[in-house]
Amino acid sequence: MRGFGPSSTTHRVRSDRRVSKQEKPDVEETLEQDRTATRKDEHILIAQREDVGFHRTGTLLDGVQFFHDSLPDLDIDAIDTSVQVMGKRLRIPLMVAGMTGGTDKARDINKRLAEQVQGYGCAMGLGSQRAMLEQPALSATYEVRDVAPTMLLFGNIGVIQARDTPTAALREMSERVGADALCVHMNPAQEVVQPEGDRDFRGGLETMGRLQSELPIPIVAKETGCGVSPRTAQRLYDMGIRHVDVSGSGGTSWVAVEMKRARGTKKGLGELLREWGIPTAASVVYARRVGMETIVATGGIQTGLDIARAIALGATIGGMARPVLQALDAKGAQGVWEVLERIERELRAVMLLVGAANVEALRAAPKFLSPELRPWLLGESNDRR
Ligand SMILES: Cc1cc2nc3c(=O)[nH]c(=O)nc-3n(C[C@H](O)[C@H](O)[C@H](O)COP(=O)(O)O)c2cc1C
Repeated sequence: MRGFGPSSTTHRVRSDRRVSKQEKPDVEETLEQDRTATRKDEHILIAQREDVGFHRTGTLLDGVQFFHDSLPDLDIDAIDTSVQVMGKRLRIPLMVAGMTGGTDKARDINKRLAEQVQGYGCAMGLGSQRAMLEQPALSATYEVRDVAPTMLLFGNIGVIQARDTPTAALREMSERVGADALCVHMNPAQEVVQPEGDRDFRGGLETMGRLQSELPIPIVAKETGCGVSPRTAQRLYDMGIRHVDVSGSGGTSWVAVEMKRARGTKKGLGELLREWGIPTAASVVYARRVGMETIVATGGIQTGLDIARAIALGATIGGMARPVLQALDAKGAQGVWEVLERIERELRAVMLLVGAANVEALRAAPKFLSPELRPWLLGESNDRR
């Protein structure tokens, strides 16, 4: 699998050879690693600068309407926006979702994001750690504990890469960066459009189950922009997974990102599937309905109001990827800090206006759902094969 990570061919039979050849890569592998670095930097550049959002498919979070409270009995500055996630308290219910690692540019991005996130008091994910699995020297491009010693940190690996990697290596990979939990990403839509993408997706669910039972840290099943269906949520739950990042549609379209890199038939496929996915709002409800303990609402989150709406649907926290990357690109570390401050300001205002003194009260705030969201929620029964 190539996906977000490096791109050497990863069939099961190759996994042991790859691990044992880490010390002395051959020419083919070195070239692959170069191509990987190029692709990863391309992803960053495309995500920063190009139009890779969904065009028609929204998050549907605006389908959640709160009832306004004209007489909130609250001091806005005393509202408690904090949440407890996996044993750590976050000042605001937000995670900067996993984006990168494996190149010099990625190292710089991870470090600068981590500094701001640690300082502010929320959570952060790393991008796919496949590169450091293959080249241990690249670990440094993911390591942020020197600047973010206590931040809630999520490692990241693709489920198909994980399928082909011994658990012990994934354990070492997670320990090396000091991850509190491991996001195992699912990205079949990206893969089928990516020029060098994967084609064999068998064994993904079993891999989730293996990691869940064999790794000492929590596993987060993470989508990457296409959302999680009722059936996927149920299958993950039945496999023992209790944490999910729904990464629904409405934000960054990874089909669109790969479409920008693709030529010929793959480009055509990308055009066809650009809007593919399940809106973030619906995905959160599906994850809640099966009983997931932690639900990260990533995919198109732009404001504190979006996060409030996701929480009202059952999310634990919101997640943001591309908007934070763009803020870093435009205004450096200060830009990231401003996004976090803005999110808190907006969330605090919404909590006041619904009369919620804390995040638990926000979750229970009176609301109604718009007609656009309802078919997705009713349609669930068709998906219970
Ligand atoms: C530049 C970039 C790189 C990404 N790389 C990864 C990755 O390595 N692993 C992963 O699970 N998700 C990755 N993602 C997906 C995000 O974590 C997120 O799920 C998705 O972009 C939707 O969030 P957004 O609409 O806020 O961008 C990446 C996103 C961006 C923008």
